[in-house]
Amino acid sequence: MAKRAVLAYSGGVDTTACIPYLRHELGVEFIVAMAADLGQGDELEPIREKALQAGADVSLVVDAKERFVREFGLPAVQANALYDGHYPLTSALGRPLIGELLVETAHAYDCDAVAHGCTGKGNDQVRLDLTVGLLDSSLEIVAPARIWDFSRAETIAYSEKYGIVPHVSKEKPWAIDLNVLGRNVEAGLIEDLGWEPTEEVWDLTTAPQDAPESPAYVTIGFERGLPATLDGKPLAPLDLLRQLNARGGQHGVGRIDMLENRVVGVKSRELYEAPAMTLLIRAHQELENLTLPADVLNQKRPLEAVYGKAVYDGLWHGLLRKALEAFVHETQRYVTGEITLKLYKGGVSVVARSAERSLYRHELVTYGNDCTFDQSSAEGFIDIFGLPSRVWNTVNG
Ligand code: ARG
Repeated sequence: MAKRAVLAYSGGVDTTACIPYLRHELGVEFIVAMAADLGQGDELEPIREKALQAGADVSLVVDAKERFVREFGLPAVQANALYDGHYPLTSALGRPLIGELLVETAHAYDCDAVAHGCTGKGNDQVRLDLTVGLLDSSLEIVAPARIWDFSRAETIAYSEKYGIVPHVSKEKPWAIDLNVLGRNVEAGLIEDLGWEPTEEVWDLTTAPQDAPESPAYVTIGFERGLPATLDGKPLAPLDLLRQLNARGGQHGVGRIDMLENRVVGVKSRELYEAPAMTLLIRAHQELENLTLPADVLNQKRPLEAVYGKAVYDGLWHGLLRKALEAFVHETQRYVTGEITLKLYKGGVSVVARSAERSLYRHELVTYGNDCTFDQSSAEGFIDIFGLPSRVWNTVNG
């Protein structure tokens, strides 16, 4: 059994109960609590202290917001990564980073184990376990919530036994996961597939019907596939994300209500709010459309779904995603330019596109008299292009 462990700590009831559980039930002698700040909006100093009160030997808060956006959020935009066609992976992308931080902390504190408070039913345990295993397979992974068989009330009673007064906030009838990329709401009332979420479920977005009566325009400038400017003004990635979340949210953009296929085989209904990621991916897709040739786009689009699934499945550090990343990276060298989006009552549309190396050639497409397209080649082209189909028709009737 492990003697020294680093625990992924959130300040919640479950991860707090993990601290006495690791020490008293599993015999861990030295516990480092590590809270990663990905922009969940909580005050982190009280959380840091809470871990110490619960019995951690060391308690750390790591501000990882910038790293989260740069190393995970933006590569996902370049890949236009959407799981099952809709989910911009806002929660999923955080787990490989938390996994990295756990391994780094384990090395810094000479730990032989990594612990987390995930249950056995969700995706997050898969992502953390796989990440840690891929980065340092010598580390043991301990997940108390997969071992104990506590109800919520039992978890609280267990903590109280060790003098922990769990901060049970006014129970919301659902569970929330928030970070700078977006917000996820699941469980509770949302499990009823016939229930239309009421407004109190949402937080980052205005109800589309209550959004401003006049549309807003936002111009996103990309350099090599990375968002760099908003309305012509250069912005650091984290600021850019925050501004897009605010502006998109105000116009009701980025609400997603989906039935999701979890890695562990169950279907679950999940709500997301991801205004910035929705806007970034939409604009980025369009800029790619302007700057990349059709054959590259035709290969990249289906690979984006593969990339999204690898991220969802927790295989951020696996070879498949890395190999896809190399492909994406090569294509992004040309993705520089500006896209203007129109935001109106929850909807997003592209209204203007420009790029210095645009592949849109007016002289080729125009019906005006300055057209340089040689129409006389068309007939021969069509003849040969249709040849295989004609042969098939002749042979098969
Ligand atoms: N179902 C989403 C996903 O798998 C969200 C998970 C949120 N995690 C949480 N512990 N609430 O990515």
